[in-house]
Amino acid sequence: MENPRLTTASGRPIAENENTQSVGPRGPLLLQDYILHEKMAHFNRERIPERVVHAKGSGAFGTFTVTNDITQYTKAKLFGEVGKQTHIFARFSTVGGEKGSADTERDPRGFSIKFYTEDGNWDMVGNNTPVFFVKDPKKFGDFIHTQKRDPHSNMKSQTMMWDYWSLNPESLHQVMILMSDRGTPYGFRHMNGYGSHTFSLVNADGERYWVKFHFKTQQGIKNFTGDEADAMKSKDLDFAQRDLMEHIDIGEFPRWTLQIQVMPEADAKTYRWNPFDLSKVWPHADYPLIDVGVMELNRNPKNYFQDVEQAAFSPAHVVDGIGYSPDKMLQGRLLSYPDAHRYRLGVNYEQIPVNRCPYAVYNYERDGKMRMDGNHGSMPNYFPNSFDEVVVDTRYKEPAWDLEASVADWYDRNAPGDDDHYTQPGNLYRLMTPEAKRATVNNIVTHMGKMEGDPAKISEIRNRQLCHFFRADIGLGMALANGLGLDAEQLMPRQHAVA
Ligand code: NDP
Ligand code: HEM
Repeated sequence: MENPRLTTASGRPIAENENTQSVGPRGPLLLQDYILHEKMAHFNRERIPERVVHAKGSGAFGTFTVTNDITQYTKAKLFGEVGKQTHIFARFSTVGGEKGSADTERDPRGFSIKFYTEDGNWDMVGNNTPVFFVKDPKKFGDFIHTQKRDPHSNMKSQTMMWDYWSLNPESLHQVMILMSDRGTPYGFRHMNGYGSHTFSLVNADGERYWVKFHFKTQQGIKNFTGDEADAMKSKDLDFAQRDLMEHIDIGEFPRWTLQIQVMPEADAKTYRWNPFDLSKVWPHADYPLIDVGVMELNRNPKNYFQDVEQAAFSPAHVVDGIGYSPDKMLQGRLLSYPDAHRYRLGVNYEQIPVNRCPYAVYNYERDGKMRMDGNHGSMPNYFPNSFDEVVVDTRYKEPAWDLEASVADWYDRNAPGDDDHYTQPGNLYRLMTPEAKRATVNNIVTHMGKMEGDPAKISEIRNRQLCHFFRADIGLGMALANGLGLDAEQLMPRQHAVA
């Protein structure tokens, strides 16, 4: 068989790929060497904007298999029967670092899954933590700036981080998890994933339930200590990518069990916590975990850019039987992601193979840059029309939501539990083993110790944050004060002073 021939992008066979046409062997180059232009110009355009957050990541294809019947809660077809399999694509990531940053940074990890269902793609765009640092989307950009580089020094700044966290106590729960050894997971295979937000499920009778999604690793939780994670940065920047790829390559397919917590719709009005507050979990004792199925990753993408870099996940992508909730952060994200995708990948990003719905897509969106799917050929480009037979299917209508009616930029300090930033982080600390407690304290002390700048400001920030830790758990506050070499008695908030 003949070897494949090197060609230009338009298919012209190339006879010379390394020497540019020149005037004599030593002379200047000729403008007419189109192959040089094409090579240079394409190279100059190889980079697309990296994700503004979660830029460093790894992805793989796989399957989701239903193991338990949950049709009493949802009519989503992917959960339709035990044994049903759905193709998926998953992407894991760190959050704050750039595309070339280290995989073992102390950071939450992104946990995104695209389920290619017959009712469209469902994207579960979560993290390896069940809560988040802020609970209103207006705060997201400010918070993320503190995780990125300082505008003056262009370096990461622990001072910015603790300043922001200490001024936003709703971050405490997530900060506790981040500072535990789960803030430095051993790659992506050994961590859980959480939808984090409350979503809704709707069953065939039109009944709505509130739901939390949990993906529990079957590989077991395994973390780096802070020191091990730091050491790995200089040994292997791409530890998590290598670990995931190599295990899939040798047939050791990582698996996660999908479980849900389900809350009847009416409970939301009376539950002791605001169930739509992203800084809080639903304790398992109140809403136990229910098994749903197993996700397995079993195929590495052949080309990273094609499938992983161009993947576009959005919490707005839900399917019949799964819906949104009034969670303010979720509402903000519904707008943000498709907007980011149009900027990062272009208006027709849904046609890129990894994002494309494998089932029929009919609509009247037309044209735009890089339209690749035939643009619906000669079909009409307006709705309604008298020519095609495309209909809206009212069976997909969601039941109405019963919501409050008064409009304001609400922050309801009087709502039960809303302003309690301390009980749940304290519960987390109290359930840790002595070893996990020691690691968490050690990580916080080390991290806080990296604050730089005006000593008076640093001491103000540190003391303000210590008060939050004291409020969560006095033992935690004491251990931190000791670790930081401070006089614990003077720092303790008055209302928690030991009698
Ligand atoms: P449970 O004792 O029933 O569950 C404790 C949970 O904590 C387990 O899911 C465990 O995960 C998880 N966990 C253990 N160590 C850490 C850590 N360092 N960082 C994050 N999660 C950890 O308790 P409750 O349901 O009553 O919740 C108590 C506290 O546990 C909460 O305030 C919250 O901080 C934390 N938590 C709760 C979750 C929930 O959905 N209820 C989910 C995750 C954390 P695993 O089973 O994988 O070991
Ligand atoms: C990525 C915005 C909160 C998980 C992104 C991206 C944006 C963004 C713009 C880049 C998207 C892209 O270019 O493809 C926001 C905003 C938030 C928010 C505005 C709050 C208002 C959250 C929360 C979680 C989360 C709470 C987890 C529970 C992720 C993940 C990715 C991501 C996993 C990477 C997706 C991928 O793998 O491609 N976010 N985010 N984000 N976000 Fe958020």
